[in-house]
Amino acid sequence: MKLLHKKIEQEGKVLSDTVLKVDSFLNHQVDPQLMKAIGEEFAARFRQEGITKVLTIESSGIAPGVMAAMELGTPLIFARKKKSLTLSEGLLTAEVYSFTKQETNTISVSTQYLKEGDRVLLIDDFLANGQAALGLIELVKQAGAHVAGIGIVIEKSFQEGGKLVRETGYRVESLAEIESLNDGQVTFKKGAEV
Ligand code: G4P
Ligand code: NA
Ligand code: NA
Repeated sequence: MKLLHKKIEQEGKVLSDTVLKVDSFLNHQVDPQLMKAIGEEFAARFRQEGITKVLTIESSGIAPGVMAAMELGTPLIFARKKKSLTLSEGLLTAEVYSFTKQETNTISVSTQYLKEGDRVLLIDDFLANGQAALGLIELVKQAGAHVAGIGIVIEKSFQEGGKLVRETGYRVESLAEIESLNDGQVTFKKGAEV
């Protein structure tokens, strides 16, 4: 997605060979115009799938997720990482291990919102090691719902997540695919600049 590539080139900061900082438009400050375009792009790619719910994980998945949901005419659900005060029963839960933080988080969604028969589009801001996406897939399965596709804003193709998540057989669409962050440079995957 050209607009996103341009934004990453202009504002992304390569912190190391593995980490890209995008705080100016995705992870801290949010660029609503860009998020709208991202939502439209996800909707275009998954429009034929009969999506009934968009599911993401707090917090950085919410902005692109809500825009995709808006375009598809569905609700957005975000899985919580922390226990909610008002949400205690009827919870679907999955364990998500973070390699970066070396900790396991329990993510959860209420059975009130994710239901049998739902056709669910999963959205996340980054695909790195894939554990968050696999956790979301697990929640959908527990609900007896169907994973209709997975939409990722930025995939780091040099990490394991893309391979792991595609092995599940679900369609994964990444709007920017980064092949390398070596030498302080963002290199996009060839042929992926559309
Ligand atoms: P990991 O094992 O590769 O770290 O995957 P994990 O899903 O545990 O990532 C931990 C957090 O770091 C996630 O956000 C994920 O989106 C984010 N992340 C992974 N790689 C990058 C990167 O190169 N750049 C940036 N900016 N973020 C990255 P989170 O902790 O869930 O935070 P948030 O969703 O509240 O922002
Ligand atoms: Na994040
Ligand atoms: Na995320």
